[in-house]
Amino acid sequence: MAQLHQVHAFWSKKCDKIDFKTAKVLVELGPGTGVFTIEMLKRALPDAKLFVIELNDNFFKLLTEKIKDPRVILLNQSADQLDVILKEHGVSHVDAILSSLPLAVIPDQTKKKILIKSYEALKCGGIYVQYQYSLTSKKLIKMCFPKMKISFTTINLPPAFIYTGTK
Ligand SMILES: C[S@@+](CC[C@H](N)C(=O)[O-])C[C@H]1O[C@@H](n2cnc3c(N)ncnc32)[C@H](O)[C@@H]1O
Repeated sequence: MAQLHQVHAFWSKKCDKIDFKTAKVLVELGPGTGVFTIEMLKRALPDAKLFVIELNDNFFKLLTEKIKDPRVILLNQSADQLDVILKEHGVSHVDAILSSLPLAVIPDQTKKKILIKSYEALKCGGIYVQYQYSLTSKKLIKMCFPKMKISFTTINLPPAFIYTGTK
């Protein structure tokens, strides 16, 4: 129960910037076991779309079994294909992107591509939220999202930095 409370508290901290009342297209990068996917679906509009992009085959399989929501477009691809994915689905811009990607261990070129494509995919005023356990990617995130804020939360274990970039 305490753990569930922790997930919810971290979730609120991570996502309180997203306006779920108006967002029509949302993207989640690196959902893993889908903890945040489920929380996003609780708040998203009935006619919203949520693109969920997970590279790992095992997590992808788990998510296909766990998430049965018609608003979700679940893809077993790399986040650096975001532009191609959105184009294939006829989406020009998205309202918000939530990323749990482990940027610290993703190769530099791929990481750069992901951040640039995320910025390009957002509508004007759209937001990119990323949590990380270190500040190693701060410079790159700031380069791609000049309007960026960092907060630190100890609600999560281990404590995490939450980057919020606005286009
Ligand atoms: C820290 S985990 C996410 C944890 C998740 N919040 C949870 O509670 O289960 C990061 C995820 O990013 C995925 N990932 C790593 N590189 C990726 C990439 N290039 N594209 C999409 N997903 C990727 C990993 O497979 C992993 O599932």
